[in-house]
Amino acid sequence: MITVYINGKATQVLKNTKVLHACTKAGYPVPHLCYHEDLPAFGNCGICMVEIKGRAVRACSTPCEEGMEVKTRGIDLSKLEESRADNPLGEYSGAGTIFGATGGVMEAALRTAHYLATGQELADPKIGFVRGGKGIKKGKIELLGKDIRKAPARGLYKDDESCERRESHNNPSINKLYAEFLDAPNSKKAKELLHTSYISRPMKISKVQ
Ligand code: FES
Repeated sequence: MITVYINGKATQVLKNTKVLHACTKAGYPVPHLCYHEDLPAFGNCGICMVEIKGRAVRACSTPCEEGMEVKTRGIDLSKLEESRADNPLGEYSGAGTIFGATGGVMEAALRTAHYLATGQELADPKIGFVRGGKGIKKGKIELLGKDIRKAPARGLYKDDESCERRESHNNPSINKLYAEFLDAPNSKKAKELLHTSYISRPMKISKVQ
């Protein structure tokens, strides 16, 4: 037997017991999704993250070692070692980045719309006329010989330009998600899981005294 410390609580476990099980034994169960005790740990979902020596690690696939200190609560995220987000969220295109900019959603949509309609990528994915938040923007892109005019609604463009892939439809993780699970954009399953609707929720705004 070895001793590990879960949130400071000394817990005796067999050597190589997974941290996930040690946490449960100590009375601090860790949420998990892709792990099943009868199967090898895939480590796909990242739901079971705990802190060990200032690093976020997967409890489901990490074996306990003598004297290990594990934190499942009170983790100071700002002090954790930085790492890339797991896929499918870790892999993103420039189109994904510019969603955070005014006009970015429109620009991302136009890149993919052009590809879907013509089968070809835009020679230059930058569609400058949709960028920015001042007033109504007007411009055009050429699609199958016709001008497509749009009047949509800004920052993050540097990251977009540095991305290897700048179109949503070229993101391999998204394509895999559709191929293996969602079928296709706008499929019944995609609509059920990704689309939403809005209802009126009038807000009562009162003056702060
Ligand atoms: S439960 Fe999915 S990575 Fe640990």
